[in-house]
Amino acid sequence: MKIINTPEEMQRQALEWRKSGKKIGLVPTMGFLHDGHMSLIDRARPECDILIVSIFVNPTQFGPNEDLDKYPRDFKRDCEQCEAHKVDCIFAPAPEVMYAPDHSTWVVEEKLSRPLCGKSRPIHFRGVATVVTKLFNLTQAEVAVFGRKDAQQALIIKRMVRDLNMPIEIIVAPLVRDTDLVAMSSRNRYLSESERKSAQVISRSLLSAEDELRRNGIKDIEELILKIKTAITSAGGRIDYVEALDGYNLEPLTGKSSSVLLAVAAYFGTTRLIDNVLVDF
Ligand code: PAJ
Repeated sequence: MKIINTPEEMQRQALEWRKSGKKIGLVPTMGFLHDGHMSLIDRARPECDILIVSIFVNPTQFGPNEDLDKYPRDFKRDCEQCEAHKVDCIFAPAPEVMYAPDHSTWVVEEKLSRPLCGKSRPIHFRGVATVVTKLFNLTQAEVAVFGRKDAQQALIIKRMVRDLNMPIEIIVAPLVRDTDLVAMSSRNRYLSESERKSAQVISRSLLSAEDELRRNGIKDIEELILKIKTAITSAGGRIDYVEALDGYNLEPLTGKSSSVLLAVAAYFGTTRLIDNVLVDF
């Protein structure tokens, strides 16, 4: 497995692979890999000849009071896991080499980025869209896999690729949960044992709402949202949002919506967790 640390070397190598007819696949990550990430890697593996995993804690998607400095890192373990899952190349640049000191060009998606996480993290998706565009250009990937854990992010990337005619296929893979049903996330590392236990309320209340949605449709959606809010607050969580939006365009639900994204962001202690369920009718 090759480890590449600079954008120049990544692009040079990628162009060489492309020239020899190889199809390149990319799984972008911020590292501290868990089984959610590994499921994307396994999903990407049969889609390409050369599989690249990027590991980069992207500073431009973190707000000034967020966890950039303490974001968990374990490069050695990440490498071992990638090797075991037949990854061909890890691209792990330092922030200094990814962004020129006078970097001033951004990719901004202006509609899907507004609701949900966009409200409390105003520059987040601009940072994500920009770094993902850079990663696509550097790796020359023809296919990339993203997780539905970050449902809004996946929709934004697909919209960006469509709107800017990027020559890449985007695959969105299912959300992976731990044995206690908590959505896997690198940030779960921040939770104390008791916070982790309390945080189970997010997935449990979402999954029971998913059941009711499948049985009864969206007519009781406001009641379901209230139920989730009450459950999370009673367990000691602080809600950022609990919202149900159209699963295709993140617009308010209408009688015609054929897909519902029910999404939660909530703090347990100082840790912000997100989770969602997607129901298609
Ligand atoms: P990160 O949080 O490391 O996630 C990398 C990819 O793994 C994303 O596509 C995310 O949706 C997916 N993922 C994380 N947890 C998952 C789970 N439990 N089940 C399924 N997929 C999961 O998302 C980012 O990094 C960054 O924003 C990035 C796209 C790399 C840009 O910096």
